[in-house]
Amino acid sequence: MVRHRKVAHVHYKHSNNNETSSSSNNSDTSLASRTFKVLSMWKTLVGCLCLLVAVYVGTLGYLETRVNTPFDNEKVVQATGLDVPERYWGSYRPGVYFGMKSREPKSPVFGLMWYDVTSLNKKVRHWCDENDHLPMYGWLRHDGVTFGEQVIYDPPHTLITSFIKTPGGQHGGHWTARINVTTTQYKEPSLFMLVWYVAMEEVRYGYGPAQLWVDGNTLRYRGHSPQLANFKVQLVAHSGKIIHSAFSEAHAPGLHLLKEKFFSLLKVQNHPTLGKIAMVGPDEEMIEKNMPINFLPMQLLVEVPFVLDVVYTNEDLPTPPLQGNEYTVALDEKKNAFDQEFEQKFGLIKKGYSEEDVAIAKAGMSNMLGGIGYFYGASRVQSQYTKEPVPYWRAPLYSAVPSRSFFPRGFLWDEGFHGLLIGRWSPDIQLDIAAHWLDLINVEGWIPREQILGVEALARVPKEFVVQSNSAANPPMLLIQLAQLVKRNPDMFLHETEQRKTLERMYNRLKAWYNWFQSTQKGQEPTAYRWRGREDDGLQLNPKTLTSGLDDYPRASHPSEIERHVDLRCWMYAAADSLAAIATVLDKQSSKYEAIRDELGDEEVLNDLHWSPHTQTYADYGLHTDGVRLTRVIPKNPHESPRVVRSISAAPQPKLVTSAFGYVSLFPMLLKVLSPQSEKLGKILEKLDKPGLLWSPYGLRSLSKSSPMYMRRNTEHDPPYWRGQVWANVNYLALSALAHYGAVAGPHMQRAKELHSRLRANVVRNILAEYKRTGYLWEQYSGEDGKGSGCKPFTGWTALVTLMMAEEY
Ligand SMILES: *[C@@H]1O[C@H](CO)[C@@H](O)[C@H](O)[C@H]1NC(C)=O
Repeated sequence: MVRHRKVAHVHYKHSNNNETSSSSNNSDTSLASRTFKVLSMWKTLVGCLCLLVAVYVGTLGYLETRVNTPFDNEKVVQATGLDVPERYWGSYRPGVYFGMKSREPKSPVFGLMWYDVTSLNKKVRHWCDENDHLPMYGWLRHDGVTFGEQVIYDPPHTLITSFIKTPGGQHGGHWTARINVTTTQYKEPSLFMLVWYVAMEEVRYGYGPAQLWVDGNTLRYRGHSPQLANFKVQLVAHSGKIIHSAFSEAHAPGLHLLKEKFFSLLKVQNHPTLGKIAMVGPDEEMIEKNMPINFLPMQLLVEVPFVLDVVYTNEDLPTPPLQGNEYTVALDEKKNAFDQEFEQKFGLIKKGYSEEDVAIAKAGMSNMLGGIGYFYGASRVQSQYTKEPVPYWRAPLYSAVPSRSFFPRGFLWDEGFHGLLIGRWSPDIQLDIAAHWLDLINVEGWIPREQILGVEALARVPKEFVVQSNSAANPPMLLIQLAQLVKRNPDMFLHETEQRKTLERMYNRLKAWYNWFQSTQKGQEPTAYRWRGREDDGLQLNPKTLTSGLDDYPRASHPSEIERHVDLRCWMYAAADSLAAIATVLDKQSSKYEAIRDELGDEEVLNDLHWSPHTQTYADYGLHTDGVRLTRVIPKNPHESPRVVRSISAAPQPKLVTSAFGYVSLFPMLLKVLSPQSEKLGKILEKLDKPGLLWSPYGLRSLSKSSPMYMRRNTEHDPPYWRGQVWANVNYLALSALAHYGAVAGPHMQRAKELHSRLRANVVRNILAEYKRTGYLWEQYSGEDGKGSGCKPFTGWTALVTLMMAEEY
């Protein structure tokens, strides 16, 4: 199942290319004519041609490099690595079940693999993978900074993985990780295989080679790096028995191939009591080819129940590391402190939620924090001026991820939502993440919307979806999130605080980003906007609008330049409002953005562009027909297989796309563009409440049941995605808007208030119930029966359920 979600389609526009070449022609002719008399005819011709080519190539070269030229301004991220000791180490590898790394571009990575030696299905667990069919896994508590505790059910075994950091010293301090394995099917002896490894992407930075040795029940190794100085890792059996152990000093061709390398190192041995067992041995290939060591797997055959302490000690810090019973005590203290802080910040016990529901809310937030990764690398990008995709500059990204199994990398608009929750827990983490994203802005003001940095991230994305096009936008939710932080905590930005300085460094980048939208996503009519990048390939029932974030949500059937998108126009309103708020706090000129906001907030203009008096709804405008369907074409050549293509039974007309009633129609309310007095707001609220349309007992459906595209496939291979399913992020926006309209006097106040309370109850109830039923938060929920669908765990924006429970918008 390949989801094409949030993946750029490269968009070429050859016309601009031609404009560039003709304008450079003109300026050169005069220069050439001045040299005409001196040179003979043929020389002139050659010279002229050379000059033309040089200027042409020069201009092209300039335009070609713009796509991967960084925005020319001070970076927002000023301190990183060891300069931010409290966030130096962390579980920054969200794509593996359990791993540790530091916020260094070339950090050594630590991680866990395991498998059940007694079952026939000896599948090695390593990367979070839906095909492992684990009934549940995820962080139960994680504070984003000092500790975390995760449970992983892999029947009949349960693994509890946790870590605690010990800060101090100049080289990042210590940390201890614990892996606690229990089983529900105890056999005599109950054997289980654990693998703990350290690996490095490159070895030329003076790492190692680490030394490894075993004594009794302890495996140790030492390593060195310029940042970490001397460190030591010990694997200590806290309780339970190590039956057999082995290690290897090996060379892995990349961090994305550790499991494969591990496999290749296994050799069958004859154990005196256990018989044949496969344990790692020397890396013969490495020895033969004289390759450097960069992968040290340590393999423990243990008897469960078993508790392993992985003790990472930095020799620069004299404090003893945590282990054994002290660790147990420290973990309990951390958990208690976390619970108290959580209640203080979200107040869910006070609101009367059950212990079980509060635990789910904690897990939701903890998985968002525990899903934060630290990535380093370069995207592949393309503009209309580059023949081939080119590398972006190498850069770090500290970011949460939508899904540890399916999308373990950064997504621009998702991150806009993540920050809403992260910031309630830690504004510093929220700002640090936003800072990293804003440092990825290029000189044009563009931010690539999907970040595939480093080999581990790259290994999970099909090749054709890697390249990011600089014509592709994504909703500016990040701006709205930052403005919300500023509005909620004015004191934080009042004086010369670190937070204010960070926001100041962000400001020019935020403006550039906004201006990029203004200059690249405008529609033909004044104040209209159009998402770029829609392509009609003749196969899709309705060509996708991936850039809008709503992928297959139906738009005009025939992409054209006359199109205008109501959601984008509302995003532009909300972003201008956000920019104005940020400018005001920073004592900068806010009037320009206030003026844009007021212009876009003018309801008469909005209605002229997007209101349909006929259906009494807001809608996109474009070249549209509802007369489309997918048909199977039997080719004349019997050797070709039949294809499913789109066929059209009625010619498209320029009109409002009113048949697609859904999230897009709600945007003037969702982003609070409409005034509380607005008559149209009343119409939206009226429609919202109709069970035959968007209202379901599980939240608002993305598309009305009455829409011809409701739950329809987009192609033979693309199931519906934003065509009826309930999505948590838009439901969050709806709740936020309803709370807003329910709190200001106006003709719709009561209704908004009442809808808010019912919608909130529905969304929260269903997400919690599905978690209890399935063990996961899901990407989306069925609008028919509420069942979780799409990928899991999806502790990106679905974790906003925590904010919904707390009524924090
Ligand atoms: C290991 O996990 C089991 C089951 O949850 C628990 O009872 C036990 O206390 C844990 N042991 C340690 C040392 O944390």
